[in-house]
Formats: sequence, C-alpha cells, structure tokens
Amino acid sequence: MPSLTTTQAPKGLEGIVATTSSICYIDGDQGVLAYRGIDIHELADHSNFEEVCYLLWFGKLPTRNELKELRERLAAERTLDPAILHNNDHNANVAKAIRLTSQIAMIVAAYDRIRKGKKVVESERSLSHAANFLLLLNGTKPSETAERALDIALILHADHELNASTFAARVTAATLSDMHSAVTSAIGTLKGPLHGGANEAVFHILQAIDKAGVEPVDFVKGMLAEKKKVPGFGHRVYHTEDPRATHLRKMSSDLGKSNGQSKWFDMSHKIEEFVKVEKKLNANVDFYSASTYHILGIDVDLFTPVFAVSRISGWAAHVIEQLDDNRLIRPRADYIGPAYPQQYVPMERR
Ligand SMILES: CC(C)(COP(=O)(O)OP(=O)(O)OC[C@H]1O[C@@H](n2cnc3c(N)ncnc32)[C@H](O)[C@@H]1OP(=O)(O)O)[C@@H](O)C(=O)NCCC(=O)NCCS
Repeated sequence: MPSLTTTQAPKGLEGIVATTSSICYIDGDQGVLAYRGIDIHELADHSNFEEVCYLLWFGKLPTRNELKELRERLAAERTLDPAILHNNDHNANVAKAIRLTSQIAMIVAAYDRIRKGKKVVESERSLSHAANFLLLLNGTKPSETAERALDIALILHADHELNASTFAARVTAATLSDMHSAVTSAIGTLKGPLHGGANEAVFHILQAIDKAGVEPVDFVKGMLAEKKKVPGFGHRVYHTEDPRATHLRKMSSDLGKSNGQSKWFDMSHKIEEFVKVEKKLNANVDFYSASTYHILGIDVDLFTPVFAVSRISGWAAHVIEQLDDNRLIRPRADYIGPAYPQQYVPMERR
C-alpha cells in the first residue's frame, strides 16, 4: 500500500467501508435492519432489549437461563455517576484544550506522588510545561538537559494525523459530544499495546533482558520464533524510519551517556539492528522513548500517560477542527454474517 494519501475521503467518511462485521445487516434501499441476520421487525415484535443485547454480544439468541443471568448482571450494574457540562463552541474548546493540556500533566504527576505516599508538589508558574511536569513528578527542579529531553519528547508525540486515538476522539466529537468525552475516548484508545501502550511493552522487554542477563538479540529471536510482535517496531504508515525515532534514538543515547545508564540504549540498539535486518522493520516512536523515559526517572507504567500528556495537544486540535466543520463520522461495514433473512427461533425451540 502506498503511504501517501492520494484520494480524497468523502466528508464524514460517507459510504466508505471501514471494516467487516457480523453484527448488523443494513439494506438502506429496502429499509432493512437486522441484528446477526434477524430482522429488527421480528425482534421488535417478539424479543426484548436484554435478549437483543445477548444476541449482539454473544452472537446467538439466549436460552432461558442465559437470558436470566444477563438480566441479573445488568440489574447489578444500575448505578450512575452524574454527567457533566456542555459548551461546544470554538472558543470554549480552545479554553478546554489549554486547561486539559495543563492539567493532564498535573493529574499524571499527582497520581504518581499519591500512590507512592509522597506529598503532591505545587506547580511553578515560571517553569516551562516540561520542567513543571518533572518538578511535579520528582519534587525537584529538573536539570536543563532533562527539561529539554522531555520537551523534545512532548513535541515529537504531540500529533500524528489520524492515528487510532485521534480518530476515536474525532468520532466522539463528531456526534456533537464534548471535548472531555472525546479525550476520554482517545485515552482509552491510546492505552492498547498496538498504540501508545507499546512504549511500556518495550521497557518490559528491556527489563526482562537485563534481569535474565541474556543477549538482547537472542531474546528477540525467541519472541519472533513464538510469532510474537516486537513492540516498538513497525508502523501502519511509515515504511522507512519513523522521523520521531531519529530524535528519540539520539536522546536515549545522549541521556544514557550523561547519566551513566548506557545499557538501555546499548540493548535497544542491538535489538534495532537485528530487527531491521531480520524483519525489515524500523523502530517507531515508542522504541527509544522507553529507554529515554526511564532515564528521565519516569516509572514504566507512566510511559503511556506521559504520551497522553503530550498527545492531548493533538487530540484537542483535532476535536476543534472537527467541530469547526462538523459532519457525523459514520462509515459502513461490509456485512459478512448469517444470510438475511434468518428466522427468530422462539425460546422453546432453541
Ligand atoms: C504498528 C502496528 C500495529 C502496525 O500494524 P499493521 O499495519 O496492521 O501491520 P501488521 O500487523 O499487519 O504487520 C505486517 C507484517 O509485519 C509484521 N510485523 C509488523 N510489526 C511487527 C513487529 N513489531 N514485530 C514483528 N513483526 C511485525 C507482521 O507480523 C506482519 O507480517 P506477516 O505479513 O508475515 O503476517 C504493528 O507494526 C505492531 O503491532 N507493532 C508493534 C506495536 C507497536 O510498536 N505499536 C506502536 C506503533 S507507533
């Protein structure tokens, strides 16, 4: 696949097939809607919502006992948090972008302090965003090198077109939901190991290699032999070096040298050289950010939250852009489920 976009997408992705799905069959011309092949009219006449949930989630109509169990589980979850605000105009969203960018950094740092039983640190207005974050995290003002390193990492992670989390944010925003909901969708999407969670996965591997005292290349060979993907490599869009990796590689090397912690870079570099030759895959943004963040004193389970500390800027920009010229994002699915029409089988005959 070429990595440069050549065709214009219709606004709101109208008519674009974005996946295959066995859930919902729609014939827009005939006015047909069916879940798992069962016509909505049949379900409306004979079924109930709980049973339809079962059909959607488990792919078949439930037996009497299966339905009873699902009803009980739904009832057990009947508690609600009060929902919030709604002001979706451009200026309000820019204000929200500023507040969220400032405060997500504070939340991540405060969370880390609280869980370690440490006092939450007061922000300093005179500091840069990067320096203030490191102050809140570590309780002391960072060195110039550490501040600059984090600043560059924040720049490199700030935006990346329609990556999965940003797409999720835009889909949420396009329903005319609000900035906070869009960012919540984005955070959930970022977390996965195929996206922002990859930086954590990279460091777990480096730690495992370090602990076992094995050759990094042998460790990775073992992963590949087990058909596992090596986190931090490959990219849907880049078929050459990820331009962000170029900076992070240098940063990891420089910081390692200046902190007497070169081992993480050395290990990473051996892995990179091997994977490049063996799998023809390049390191992506997550590969060297792992060792970089570690040397900056950031705990491994904060790596992905730190990604969010930066990417909030991009998510917010996309939400604003989406809402400034909005159309509902509603692509289509290519139906591959049971042929329509399927019969609704009454409970006694299942
Ligand atoms: C980023 C990623 C999800 C892109 O996925 P994709 O575009 O769907 O590409 P695919 O997963 O289909 O991979 C294509 C081929 O390369 C291989 N491949 C891709 N990334 C790989 C990796 N990190 N390690 C080993 N093999 C990999 C796949 O196994 C597949 O090989 P095959 O054709 O022989 O089956 C994928 O490269 C990956 O999982 N990387 C590791 C996680 C990661 O670092 N994510 C952060 C991205 S910034």
